[in-house]
Amino acid sequence: MDSRQLTFFIFLAFALCPSSQALSRTHFNFQNIGLLRRAMTHASFSEENNKALSILGERVIESTVSLKSLTNDIEMSAKELNRLVTEVSKVEASCAVVGMKLGLQRVLRVSAKTNSSTPAVVCGAFRAVFGAVAVDSGKSDDAGSVFWAVHSGLNGRAVAM
Ligand SMILES: *[C@@H]1O[C@H](CO)[C@@H](O)[C@H](O)[C@H]1NC(C)=O
Repeated sequence: MDSRQLTFFIFLAFALCPSSQALSRTHFNFQNIGLLRRAMTHASFSEENNKALSILGERVIESTVSLKSLTNDIEMSAKELNRLVTEVSKVEASCAVVGMKLGLQRVLRVSAKTNSSTPAVVCGAFRAVFGAVAVDSGKSDDAGSVFWAVHSGLNGRAVAM
């Protein structure tokens, strides 16, 4: 990803967040831009890719959704919490949809034979962004905040809550 694409991506994330509070929470400056480039690199493209960051990102998303849910309602059942977590991380649902809305398929680096708009590919990159934020800041909380800012900005509300 060159710096122009990166600026575009960050601009997009900002532009899609309507509330100024969400905006300030989205304001995350990467110390190590290489992490964001890695997040935007599919395994079909190179050895340096987003597979591992994507696993971290998925865990960050699951943990921030769980925390927010239980903070809102400590009486929530395990079944209901599981349903929410599953919904937010389902590949075919919010994960790929939000990733597509962000335009990740346009900046993702994939091999010539790989379709960058495939839900699994977009979803992996979307998750990897939050993994990259967590590694860059050393705090998964930061990645969780960026997740909510992007998510609520795109949906106009927090997902399923
Ligand atoms: C790429 O994948 C998307 C989503 O699955 C699909 O709509 C599109 O037709 C595919 N493009 C090509 C060239 O196969």
